[in-house]
Amino acid sequence: MEPASIYEQIHQFTNRANPYPLYAELRETPVARLEDGGYVVSTYEEIVALLHDPRVSSDRRKLAHPPPGEPLPPSFIGTDPPEHDRLRRLAMRHFGPPHSPRVVENMRGELHEVVKDLIDGVAGRTQADIVDDIAYPFPVTVICRLLGVPREDEPRFHGWAEEIVENLGPGEGDQDERAKRRTAAVLALATYLEELAQAHRRNPGDDVLSGLATYEGPDGPMSDTELISTAALLLVAGHETTVNLITNGMLTLLRNPGLMERIRDEPDLIIHTVEELLRFEPPVHFLPQRVALDDITIAGVTIPKGSSIVLALASGSRDPAHVHDPERFDPDRPYIQHLGFGGGIHHCFGAPLARLEAQIALRELAKRLVNPRLVTDPPPYRPNSTLRGPRHLLVEYDRVL
Ligand code: HEM
Repeated sequence: MEPASIYEQIHQFTNRANPYPLYAELRETPVARLEDGGYVVSTYEEIVALLHDPRVSSDRRKLAHPPPGEPLPPSFIGTDPPEHDRLRRLAMRHFGPPHSPRVVENMRGELHEVVKDLIDGVAGRTQADIVDDIAYPFPVTVICRLLGVPREDEPRFHGWAEEIVENLGPGEGDQDERAKRRTAAVLALATYLEELAQAHRRNPGDDVLSGLATYEGPDGPMSDTELISTAALLLVAGHETTVNLITNGMLTLLRNPGLMERIRDEPDLIIHTVEELLRFEPPVHFLPQRVALDDITIAGVTIPKGSSIVLALASGSRDPAHVHDPERFDPDRPYIQHLGFGGGIHHCFGAPLARLEAQIALRELAKRLVNPRLVTDPPPYRPNSTLRGPRHLLVEYDRVL
């Protein structure tokens, strides 16, 4: 099959439960040209090379044919140095620099409390939806607290965050309609955040939004639009990714009952389990947003200046040229290397937090649900092929400890 049509099939909803055989076919052409003139890169070494190549931009405004105007300027995930570095530095400063994961580590007790309460919430039953009952509310509660967003406002921006993410990257349905829905959601979220930032500026608290709104140091202050797009990025990133890591994790453990058993007895095993999950069932399958700033020759193919480049991270993490026996889930492998958090200057900013959240949630679920069983395998998936994960994950159990 032609690489372009393999790539099209990957995005069809029917392949959501298991896109991995198609990734293997795609890797036969490491750098493939698509019908729209863009390129998709699917092998580990080539993806890593491009993630670290300064000729590869994250700024869509630099495409030969830039997309129609976005409602907001891009957040720092969609910009290049020096703009990117200044905004990332500013955000890190207030996020409690995750480059010293100590701050995140100090949240361990609080994270534990939130998970404990959520699992207590399903204790009176013998069936739970891991997504709606645990994996979604947990990271959302945490990111709202960190940013200083009142928890009761969460349902309002839950809808916006979903619209933004579901309409990100390639997808099914009318493309203009998808773009319109995304724009409307971005504008609604921006208005909400603008009002919230003003309230925090008048009356600052001990949270990231207050820090960003009042900072006056060497990199600051952030303009109002910078503040809004940074807050929106953190909220959406904190909302829509960790949920899939926890859910994919629970699904994988339920498919490997021996491992679930071991996690109950060997608490540290969860660290490598989460790392292997980021390789084997990652939440982010594609980075659809890169642009070639020059002609770039890689794996014998020249990507012309101005072209769009998609990096197929989930495919790279299962590349047999880089990982031994990649289709096997094995947290005991000696080195676990993956592209789950990307790489280079845009490497995930929330990685220490996301790792700790997933470790705590999965270990507690393994310890407290007695005899857990999957109700449907595969579970129903969300439509998105870029941020991939189940919509629901129904689990039956005898009781909760
Ligand atoms: C960037 C994955 C959780 C904030 C990224 C990138 C990936 C990623 C692949 C690279 C994007 C690119 O290169 O274009 C994930 C996964 C997560 C997760 C798999 C959960 C399991 C979080 C959380 C936060 C966060 C909890 C915030 C608290 C960010 C930000 C960036 C980013 C701000 C942009 C960094 C930059 O451009 O310099 N993430 N992420 N992420 N992530 Fe995450």
